[in-house]
Amino acid sequence: MFDLRGKVALVTGAGSGIGAAIARAFATQGATVYIGDRDAAAARTVVEEIRATGGVAVVCTLDVANADSCRAAADAIFATHPQGLDVLVNNAGIGHVGTILQTEEADMDRLYAVNVKGVFFLSKIFLPKMMERRSGSIINLASIGGIVGVKDRLAYCTTKFAVVGITKTMALDHAESQVRINCICPGRVETPFVQARIKEYPDPAKAYKEMSATQALGRMGSPEEIAAAAVYLASDESAFVTGSALIIDGGLSAGK
Ligand SMILES: NC(=O)c1ccc[n+]([C@@H]2O[C@H](COP(=O)([O-])OP(=O)(O)OC[C@H]3O[C@@H](n4cnc5c(N)ncnc54)[C@H](O)[C@@H]3O)[C@@H](O)[C@H]2O)c1
Repeated sequence: MFDLRGKVALVTGAGSGIGAAIARAFATQGATVYIGDRDAAAARTVVEEIRATGGVAVVCTLDVANADSCRAAADAIFATHPQGLDVLVNNAGIGHVGTILQTEEADMDRLYAVNVKGVFFLSKIFLPKMMERRSGSIINLASIGGIVGVKDRLAYCTTKFAVVGITKTMALDHAESQVRINCICPGRVETPFVQARIKEYPDPAKAYKEMSATQALGRMGSPEEIAAAAVYLASDESAFVTGSALIIDGGLSAGK
């Protein structure tokens, strides 16, 4: 089960955190994985780690917020794999803390460019070949902040609700061609993204405890726990799953 041998995948934001864990898990299951990140050094490190364990990985430097950069990265992938990708994971994302009164237009634009347009650009590029082959899985990293509101995360939640929207709409639009589009909605996962947020609080240790406690299970998730879901959604075992927003949040959104 969950055999990804013979599949070609691009994971964006794979130089760190959840994306790196997804890339490692895909490689372990036998996929050829393109490590997409705007941080070339971080991408190289993940590629070297994967190769050291016998996996197949390739650096793919790109800025998902820039259409030309996405096109150039895709052209390089198509040159080696003219059939295109089997799996696209739109994972690259950035955060912002603040209410609407603490959010500037520039913050909204920055988050929209990476979190939403990044999904838009790459899906638009890789979808047509998937449709031709009547096969393919697109996995978007939304957030629990795309399912319920999160205090002080105005810009972030706005973009993550949009990611759930693009996922469900694309799933309907392209179901006929058998391409599956799903998203994963994690609660708090301990990654550099969350560690950076915690450092912004006046008392980081207290903030860590409080953030852990918001999950019913009383802890944050690990990147590997999210990667396991991505492996499922990439694999043929999830052939009947499309348009889903898979919540993995330790019970955060289950209720009070
Ligand atoms: N960590 C969490 O608690 C959590 C919870 C819910 C959802 N998410 C989502 O999961 C995804 C990954 O989060 P993470 O915690 O692993 O983040 P992270 O900050 O650890 O890693 C993000 C990676 O994306 C890359 N990146 C950022 N902007 C980019 C761009 N424009 N082009 C290419 N690469 C870019 C960064 O260089 C970095 O390597 C994000 O979409 C995030 O919103 C995270």
